[in-house]
Amino acid sequence: MATVVASPSQTQVTLPSTKLLINGQWVEAVSGRRFDTINPATGETICNVAEADEADVNLAVKAARAAFHTKAPWRRMSASERGKLLNKLADLMEKDADNLARLESLDNGKPYTIAKAADVALSIACYRYYAGWADKVQGKTIPVNGDYFCYTRHEPVGVVGQIIPWNFPLLMQAWKLGPALATGNTVVMKPAEQTPLSALRVSELIQEAGFPDGVVNMLPGYGPTAGAAISRHMDIDKVAFTGSTEVGHLIMQAAAETNLKRVTLELGGKSPNIIFADADMDAAIEGAHFALFFNQGQCCCAGSRVFVEEKAYDEFVERSAARAKKRKVGDPFDRRTEQGPQVDDAQFHKVMSYIDSGVKDGARLVAGGERHGDQGYFIQPTVFADVQDNMKIAEEEIFGPVMSIIKFKDMDEVIDRANRTMYGLAAGVWTRDIGKALAISNGVRAGTVWVNCYDVFDAAAPFGGFKQSGIGRELGEYGLQQYTEVKTVTMKL
Ligand code: NAI
Ligand code: MG
Repeated sequence: MATVVASPSQTQVTLPSTKLLINGQWVEAVSGRRFDTINPATGETICNVAEADEADVNLAVKAARAAFHTKAPWRRMSASERGKLLNKLADLMEKDADNLARLESLDNGKPYTIAKAADVALSIACYRYYAGWADKVQGKTIPVNGDYFCYTRHEPVGVVGQIIPWNFPLLMQAWKLGPALATGNTVVMKPAEQTPLSALRVSELIQEAGFPDGVVNMLPGYGPTAGAAISRHMDIDKVAFTGSTEVGHLIMQAAAETNLKRVTLELGGKSPNIIFADADMDAAIEGAHFALFFNQGQCCCAGSRVFVEEKAYDEFVERSAARAKKRKVGDPFDRRTEQGPQVDDAQFHKVMSYIDSGVKDGARLVAGGERHGDQGYFIQPTVFADVQDNMKIAEEEIFGPVMSIIKFKDMDEVIDRANRTMYGLAAGVWTRDIGKALAISNGVRAGTVWVNCYDVFDAAAPFGGFKQSGIGRELGEYGLQQYTEVKTVTMKL
């Protein structure tokens, strides 16, 4: 297997196959095309990868459809066997955890220590969680009128297209594959073009675990080509997507114009993180810092509108700026690094332009605001105070290390302002008053609310959006429902 040396740290990383996985075979793209994936810490090319397009999607769907045939091994396999395969995959990932984390860090730019402790560990936990569900998905018996026996079966939806983003490549893959495979679907997955490598490594492990050919097909490629071919395909039964709200609209449109495939979407956010003056201020400041800056600010649920109660505002601003200035930015493979580069040039420029717009709109820059260093896509941890609700930085998803602090006076006002957005993914509230915590939790229209904590994820706890943050839920038992069709069987007695 090929290895590369990640600069600047000189860490050795073993590369996976760089071909497409279709029907259990590693193949070049029909077009023969390949594309580069880069190391965002340096801007240098790591390697190139086969580039899937419509022709490859068609082949992969054929394979996935054949693997879904009622006589095929996957469909004849018992539910508990599917669970065993998922656990086997988790075992193999555990053995490979160091290199998986290195691949993730190299391709995405996130700190290695975090890739290992969070991304890899949570992905393994997700596969194990859904492994446990495989033989526990049950229908019901229904007491209908007359002499009939009526029951429901929860059957797999069929061939599922899954399109995932680059911010948590391994984890988004696990959130999608775990429930789809536990319930017996077959999959055509497209990883993000920025970060194909860890998805390819997991695909090798899927093969090694012994999943039948064609059950998982892995197609690195671009969105408007391979991604669009998945969302338009007439023989894909469902598409699950995580990414921008803009592309979420396109996916749904494509489903509407073709075969009404089922659509689940996990999209953007502009999540309010509400800090009351009675909060444990040390915890709130550290918590708000983490909620925004974690993963270079590239989180759909980032606490990007930090509402702070008047009485605590000045202290909060001063201490949050000081905390941001202390944040350690640099080489993802340095164990002390808290923040790596943004994922690519496009994201880097997008974030920098939001910083410009904050300054232009009159927000008060109290930390950062500049590029960090002179190579790669690093940005200084940036904090704006005195942000107004109608400024662009308070309305649009920045997806970078830019915190906006906004002042508020009272509870009803902050709930209304928190809800004045097209998004509804997550929210946070920091207070010692249980009444305030509950009022915010009930009043905010968001799929997840964290009280005196943030970004606490668990494979068992559902996650997803209200409003334009998405449709459906991932993780937990709710996540399973998105991968089954209910069949009602009525039998004359
Ligand atoms: P994107 O939505 O374009 O990319 C996400 C995935 O969708 C990738 O796999 C991409 O190849 C695919 N895709 C793109 N166009 C497609 C199409 N027409 N049909 C089917 N699939 C398509 O997001 P991008 O451009 O990487 O980032 C733009 C912004 O989106 C970010 O700045 C951020 O605000 C947001 N975003 C949100 C994410 C989340 O976790 N909710 C993840 C990534 C980005
Ligand atoms: Mg890359």
